[in-house]
Amino acid sequence: MAKVKLGVLVSGSGTNLQAILDATRSGTLDADVAIVISNQPGVRALDRAKEAGVASRVISHRDFADRAAFDAALLTALGEAQVSHVVLAGFMRVLTAGFLDAFPWRVINIHPALLPAFPGVHAQRQALAYGVKVAGCTVHFVDAGTDTGPIIAQSAVPVLESDTEETLTARILREEHRLLVAALAAIAEGDITVVPEPSGARPRVALGERAAKRFAEARL
Ligand code: GRF
Repeated sequence: MAKVKLGVLVSGSGTNLQAILDATRSGTLDADVAIVISNQPGVRALDRAKEAGVASRVISHRDFADRAAFDAALLTALGEAQVSHVVLAGFMRVLTAGFLDAFPWRVINIHPALLPAFPGVHAQRQALAYGVKVAGCTVHFVDAGTDTGPIIAQSAVPVLESDTEETLTARILREEHRLLVAALAAIAEGDITVVPEPSGARPRVALGERAAKRFAEARL
């Protein structure tokens, strides 16, 4: 299998991007980050890419008439960088079906909740408001819905009586970094497949032996 070349889409602070960059540098993740694209100018994630010597671009959704035109610009940039897989690392835009068709089961998202609970924005706030006692994060392949695609791996953290949105967000975020790197490492090894289910049921992710062992050892 050819070495995985990641295009990482970001909108903000980029701590998940940093975890990916650190893991590619240390060899924990056998992949290259080919390009980082932000839809927001001036965000910390862009500095992180620069500090790591990784190419980065700003493609602002505001410069395009509609989502299709914005996504087409993203696709052009990702194509130029010869990206094989796309990671949504805090990217706050929903992609069109046209974009997803260009990377079938090769777009990966990290979400700060144990899906299918609490999709969409403010997942940690939703979890606190509901009163759950366990929260966490999910890495999944992206489909046309919002946070509905096949789940690759999940990790749970406790919700404490004293938690605020900030403290819970920070606890989940630390776990996101571990989870995302482990999931991408398994994908880079080619040990993750999406299995179409008969009769139109949801496709599910099948873990090969190495991926299952990797997740077990990481206690995911
Ligand atoms: C993370 O909580 C991610 O799950 C969510 O947005 C946040 C991004 O954080 N989608 P960062 O930019 O990676 O620091």
